[in-house]
Amino acid sequence: MAFDNINTLLPPLLTHPDFEIASDEPLYNPDIHLSPTEPEFIVLLDGYRHVPKAPKLDKPVASNGESQIAYTGPFRLLSDEGYQVLRKILQRELLHQQSNDRWPGFVRNAGYRSKWIQDFNRCPRVLEHLSRMTGDVNLVPTAFQNSYSHINIGYATEKNIDSWHCDSVPYVVILLACDMSQTVGGELQLIEREPKEAFRLIEEYKGKVPKDLIRPIDYLGSNSCVFMQGSRLAHRVTNIKSCTEPRITVVNSYMSTNPFTTEFTRYDTFRKEVTADLEYAMHKTWRANAQMLDLAIGGHPWPTRDQIIDRLTMAINEMNVCREILLGTKSDHIGYYDEQKQEIGNYEMSSSANDKTIN
Ligand SMILES: [Fe+2]
Repeated sequence: MAFDNINTLLPPLLTHPDFEIASDEPLYNPDIHLSPTEPEFIVLLDGYRHVPKAPKLDKPVASNGESQIAYTGPFRLLSDEGYQVLRKILQRELLHQQSNDRWPGFVRNAGYRSKWIQDFNRCPRVLEHLSRMTGDVNLVPTAFQNSYSHINIGYATEKNIDSWHCDSVPYVVILLACDMSQTVGGELQLIEREPKEAFRLIEEYKGKVPKDLIRPIDYLGSNSCVFMQGSRLAHRVTNIKSCTEPRITVVNSYMSTNPFTTEFTRYDTFRKEVTADLEYAMHKTWRANAQMLDLAIGGHPWPTRDQIIDRLTMAINEMNVCREILLGTKSDHIGYYDEQKQEIGNYEMSSSANDKTIN
């Protein structure tokens, strides 16, 4: 494959206009801070079968680059020492906590304030470990640097910590960064159905999908992770009935190195971040560029004129979509189910952009 050298494909790091890198943290050292383990099982999208390991494939299961993996059982990435470093960084990051209609507490932009977080998200060993779990794709971090180690914070309330939704990035690792041994509720749940069918069920049952259709995800306690193709699985986090400390999860986001894969990275979810326009433009430019480069270095037979024109069209479309989304004449917004209003919410989209959704 032409796109298997992940180190050369990492999106460049940006400097935030408002934030500086903190100086009070240790250097990320994978020898000390990592101690990865394997999950006991992997669940494939195909029939949601549980297998001990995803079969190693030469390429993704579909020609459009889609992967076979749905989600994994719990496993670890960080060593105890790495986890302690992360917890210290979280204490500092929690000062930047925000909330909105959907999330009671969250922190973005740790990837602009912490060198350790940058290195953890971009660590080749982590990328290799997760890529191996998929069995068919090579992963790199999302181009949305504002979302490196996105932090979610949940408190004991009536409201779900997160509503039914699919992610705006293709793959995520969710790391449980708290002690939930005294917590009642706050459960990650998913529906093992195609997202369209899952959302049909969610609407049919007004959010209260019967238990037999829901798969609860168990973590192995603090510092354990679950990896999932969250863009292709409807999931939510239930409300916390009681707890002795907030529920904190750290979400690292990834995408495939394959530039032909179906686009699951969505600008709309991140558009309020000042860095989002450039991050998204870099993402789309990377796709268009890699699609064109593949003609030259993909190891194919010499392309015909029509094939070259088709590929140019593909790359031009990629850039046009980006331009129109940034202009606001198109939107890639993705809904979530608002259980209060019993409808699909849409992150407060403007009506003009709302009319022209592309998917
Ligand atoms: Fe999610």
